[in-house]
Amino acid sequence: MTSTEDNMATPVKYHLDKFPPTNIDWEQLVPLLGRANIGLGRYDGLLEGIPDANVLLSPLMLQEAVLSSKIEGTNISLSEVLEIEAGGDGATQSKRDDAEEVLNYREALNFASHALDERSFSLHLLREAHELLMRGVRGRDKKPGAFRDVQNWIGYQGGAIEEASFIPIPPEQLSGGMERWLEYFLSTDGPDLLVQLAVIHLEFEALHPFMDGNGRLGRMVIPLFLYHRKILRSPDFYMSGYLEAQRDQYIEAMRAVSRDGAWTQWCAFFLQGIIEQASQNQRKAEAILELHRRMRRAVAEATRSQYADLAVDFIFARPVFSSPDFAKNSGIPELTASRILRALKSKEVNILDTIRPSSGSSPSILAFPELLYIAEGTGGLTI
Ligand SMILES: Nc1ncnc2c1ncn2[C@@H]1O[C@H](COP(=O)(O)OP(=O)(O)O)[C@@H](O)[C@H]1O
Ligand SMILES: [Mg+2]
Repeated sequence: MTSTEDNMATPVKYHLDKFPPTNIDWEQLVPLLGRANIGLGRYDGLLEGIPDANVLLSPLMLQEAVLSSKIEGTNISLSEVLEIEAGGDGATQSKRDDAEEVLNYREALNFASHALDERSFSLHLLREAHELLMRGVRGRDKKPGAFRDVQNWIGYQGGAIEEASFIPIPPEQLSGGMERWLEYFLSTDGPDLLVQLAVIHLEFEALHPFMDGNGRLGRMVIPLFLYHRKILRSPDFYMSGYLEAQRDQYIEAMRAVSRDGAWTQWCAFFLQGIIEQASQNQRKAEAILELHRRMRRAVAEATRSQYADLAVDFIFARPVFSSPDFAKNSGIPELTASRILRALKSKEVNILDTIRPSSGSSPSILAFPELLYIAEGTGGLTI
């Protein structure tokens, strides 16, 4: 039976009273767990050597926001988001709306990771993050920050509940379900943290506590949990590349949990994702570090300026920007700033590209393509 026929025939319902799972086949997971832990350990070792991971890895985080939102139907690339953020005014309304969702995603994830430095994870924190994620035009009528009090279902747009592929927990049971979820999230006596994480993501999606935004928020929870449990020293772990590339298997593995109790298969799918993404995240972070080292030398040489490092830091933090933004916010005196930009755009140096020339009152928009290439690419991985 294809998954579409199956979808049409029988909506799968939430696995009431079957959480947390008791039927996990650990033997099957052990080899994957070993590799996933090694991969995360290596990645964390790399994070340890990045003094300002927040800034240097920020394009990777935004790319995660792009891919996680793409799973939910947005159609915009990292470069396009950054161009709109930089003030580029050529984009269509639909691209602008997509960019808003992606930028909200970044804000929500930043907010939640900072909050975790000061307080424990809670449902309140989750609702605050949801509020940030849903802010603006598309989220307005989706009850930002509030758990739902009606039955929802997953199916094609506008489809009836009888045709749904999945029906989450009924609203009357939701608050109990969320309490159990939180208790499980916070529990420290489970047999393995990564299996705990796989189960946390699945259960969150199956509860589907919000009217919208559940997929994105549930994927944000992944780096937050790794950070909260100190498996990683910063919340820079990105899973959506894997989940987006395998969207159908992702959704099917989730349905199979509620339909057949297939927790082990779900955990295996998720752990495989951690393995692949740990290695991809590592390759990308290494490439960024290497580029940063190379740019420190190249920009110093090309500009012969005491401000060279400031220029480098700026283009890593904002790989697409308008020229006045650079003059205002790089910390470089204005005349020197424009001299440096000219040097970095010149044919011989070729570090920056003009992606939009100035016209009328709109300033030119510049990009640092080498960094975008790393962040947007699959890092040599084909999944
Ligand atoms: N059968 C299922 N069981 C559990 N979760 C599912 C199932 N099918 C889809 N999902 C989850 O639902 C998400 C979509 O829910 P939605 O609230 O629309 O999220 P978003 O607004 O972020 O799009 C998917 O990304 C997936 O994580
Ligand atoms: Mg949605």
